Amino acid sequence: MAIMINEAEKIFSIHTKNSTYQMKVDAYGFLLHLYYGRRANGTADYLLTYADRGFSGNPYDVGQDRTYSLDVLPQEFPCRGNGDFRSPALDVKDENGVYGCDLRFTGYQLSKGKYRIPGLPAVYAEDDEAETLEITLADDTLQLEVCLFYGVLPALDIITRSVRIRNNGAKTIFLEKVLSACLDFVGGNFDLLTFYGRHAMERNVQRTAVTHTCQRIGSRRGTSSHQYNPLLFLATKDATEEHGACYAMSFVYSGGFQGEAERDQFNQTRMMLGLCEEQFSYPLPPDAVFYAPEVIMTYSGKGLAQVSQNLHHCIRHHVCRGHYRDITRPILVNSWEASYFNINGQTILDLAREAAGLGVEMLVMDDGWFGKRDDDNSGLGDWSVNEEKLGCSLKELVDNINALGLKFGIWFEPEMINEDSELYRAHPDWALAHPGRKPVRGRGQLVLDFSRREVVDAIFRQVCDILDQANIEYLKWDINRSICNVYTHGEKAQETVLYDYMLGLYDFLERLLARYPNLLIEGCSGGGGRFDAGMLYYTPQIWCSDNTDAIDRTKIQYGTSFGYPISTVGSHVSAVPNHQTGRSVSLKTRGIVAMAGTFGYELDFGRLSPEEKDEIRRQIAMYKKLAGLIQSGDYYRLSNPHTDEVAAWGIVSEDKEEVLISAVMLETHGNMPVSYIKVRGLSADSFYLDEMTQKVYSSNMLMESGLPVMAGLGAYQAFYWHLKKQV
Ligand code: GLA
Repeated sequence: MAIMINEAEKIFSIHTKNSTYQMKVDAYGFLLHLYYGRRANGTADYLLTYADRGFSGNPYDVGQDRTYSLDVLPQEFPCRGNGDFRSPALDVKDENGVYGCDLRFTGYQLSKGKYRIPGLPAVYAEDDEAETLEITLADDTLQLEVCLFYGVLPALDIITRSVRIRNNGAKTIFLEKVLSACLDFVGGNFDLLTFYGRHAMERNVQRTAVTHTCQRIGSRRGTSSHQYNPLLFLATKDATEEHGACYAMSFVYSGGFQGEAERDQFNQTRMMLGLCEEQFSYPLPPDAVFYAPEVIMTYSGKGLAQVSQNLHHCIRHHVCRGHYRDITRPILVNSWEASYFNINGQTILDLAREAAGLGVEMLVMDDGWFGKRDDDNSGLGDWSVNEEKLGCSLKELVDNINALGLKFGIWFEPEMINEDSELYRAHPDWALAHPGRKPVRGRGQLVLDFSRREVVDAIFRQVCDILDQANIEYLKWDINRSICNVYTHGEKAQETVLYDYMLGLYDFLERLLARYPNLLIEGCSGGGGRFDAGMLYYTPQIWCSDNTDAIDRTKIQYGTSFGYPISTVGSHVSAVPNHQTGRSVSLKTRGIVAMAGTFGYELDFGRLSPEEKDEIRRQIAMYKKLAGLIQSGDYYRLSNPHTDEVAAWGIVSEDKEEVLISAVMLETHGNMPVSYIKVRGLSADSFYLDEMTQKVYSSNMLMESGLPVMAGLGAYQAFYWHLKKQV
C-alpha cells in the first residue's frame, strides 16, 4: 500500500518509491502538512512547533492557547478567514460579499487506481499502478464541502492533486481563488525555478532565491502562454542536475494559471499552483460542484535531472494517450516556412514529391488551404477547402500524396475567427467581445466563444467534415492569440467563461479523438504558447516554438526539457538564413538540434543543392535509426546553454545499453579552450563503443572527465556520439 493511515493519530502517509508525503488532522480538525521529501518511516508531527506569535490570530476553539495559530502552522489547503494571513489556496465569498471560510476534517476515502476529473485532463493509470486518497473538509457555516484528491503513482514518484468543491448550502457561494496544490515547508532556504519567455523565445530558465516576498508567475491570457509555463521547481540552494532536494509542480491545464512561492515571517516556505485568480469569481449555486484542474507533483533527493525525468515518465506514459503514445512519430515536412500562404495543390504536391525522394514520411499542409485565406486577415472560421486555390479536391490531393508513400496532415485553428469570414457575418456574437466596445484584435483575429456548446459543435462539424473527405492522419491544432474582452452571449455566467472555454476546448478534443482514434494531433500556439500537460493529454506532441533557429532552439528546448519529455517536443530543420533570426548555421547543426524532438523539416526542398539533399537523406536515415532511443530514452541536460559555451544533452536508453550525446558550440573565439561534456546516466564500471570511430570509452571516465568538444574554424559546429554498451 502506498497510502498508509494511522487512525489513532490521524496521520496520512503517502509513500512512493523514493519519497514520503505526510499530513495530519490535529485536535481541532485542521489538516496540517507534515513532510514531503526522502522516503521515510515514522511520523513528522514533532516538526510542529507552537509559540505565542504577535498578530497571528488564534481560532476560537483553542480557547486561551495563544500558541496555536494557522498563520504559522504548515497547511495542506490554506484558506482565507481562519487566521492564516499568508496567500491562500482557497478564497470564498458568500452571497453578501463576506469573505472567509473555516475548513475542518470530516472524513477520508481510499481507493485503488487513479481518480478522474470530469471534463478535465488528468494523469491516468491502471488500477494496479495507482492509489487515490480523498480527504474531505467542510465549513459548517457555509455548508461548503472541499474534497482534496491525492493520486499516487508510487513507481514513478508522482503524487497528483486536485480539488472538488461542493455547495451543500441553500445560497450561492463565490469561489474567488482556487489553487489545486499547496506545499508548506516548516523551513526552507530554497531557490525557485520558473520558465519565462515570449513568442519565439519560450521557456528560458530563471533561478532565484525564494525570499520574503510573494513571487508569483502566471498567465492571464486565457492560455498557459509563452510568457510563463505552468511549471514550478523548488530546489535547495546546493541543488544541481545530479544533487540536492528538488520539488516540481506541473499544471495539467491549458488556460490561465498562477504559481506562487513565498518565504514567510518565520522563514517558512509556501509553494502553490492553480487557476489564475484574476477574472475568476466562480458562482457556485446550491448543489453545484466545481473541479480544480490537476497538479502533478514530484520530489527527488537526487537533483534536477531526476525530477525532470519523473515528470517525463509520467507525461509520456500517463498523460499522453492514444495510438501514437509509444510509437515513433512520422518524420514530417511542414509547408509553413516552405511557402507560407503561397500554397496550391501543385506546390504541395511538389513538396511531397521532393520529400518522398528524401525519406520523409508525412506532408503537412499548413495554413492557407481553406476559405478565403491568402493572408492572416481573413478566413478563420470557414473550414471549407478552397478547391479553386488548391486546383483540386482535398481527396485528390491526399490520394496523390499517399500514392507517393507519404501520410498527409493538415493545419487548423479551430478556436479563432476573422471578422472577414462567412461565419462571423452569420454569427458575430460567437466571438468574445464586450458589447458596445470594439474588441482587441490579435493577429487581426478574434476568439470564438468556446464556453458555448453551439459554437464548439458548429466548429466540430466543420472540422469533421474536412477530416471525412480524405485520408488525413495528422492535425496541427493552432491558436494564435491571447484571449481578451471576455464576454459571452451564451448562458454561462461571465465570471466562468475562461474556465468554461477550456472545458469546451477539452470536450472538442475528446470527441475528436473518440471519433478519429488514430489521428495524431500536434498542439501549437504560435509555436509553444500552450505547451502544457493539459494539452498533452490530447496532443502527444506540441510545436515547441515558432523560432526554428537551431541556436535559439538549444535554449528553448533546454528549458522545455525541465518539464516535458522530448517525445512531445515538435522540432524541425528549417532554411538558412533562418526566418526568425537571420542566422545561418550548417545543415548538420540544424539536424542535430531538431533530432532532440519529434523530427521534421520546415523548408522548400526544391531550393536545396544535390549535396544538401544527400545530407538530408543521411540525416533521415540517422534519425530513423535513433528514433526509438530518442523518443523513449532518458533525457539528461549536460550543459546550461544560457551560461556555457556549448549546449549539450544526452539520451540514454532505459536499459542503459545505448546513448546519444549531442553538442553544439554556441560561441566562437580565437584559440578556444576545449569544453568537456560530462556524460550522465551511463551504467557504471562499463565500457561503451562508438561504432563510428570504433573507440571504446570507460563509462566512469565519461561521467567523471567527460568528452572533449573541440571546435575547429567556424561558428556553431555540432557533434554527436552514438555509443553502445559493450558486453
Ligand atoms: C502559427 C504557427 C506556425 C504556422 C502559422 C500559420 O504561427 O505557430 O507554425 O502554423 O501559425 O499561420
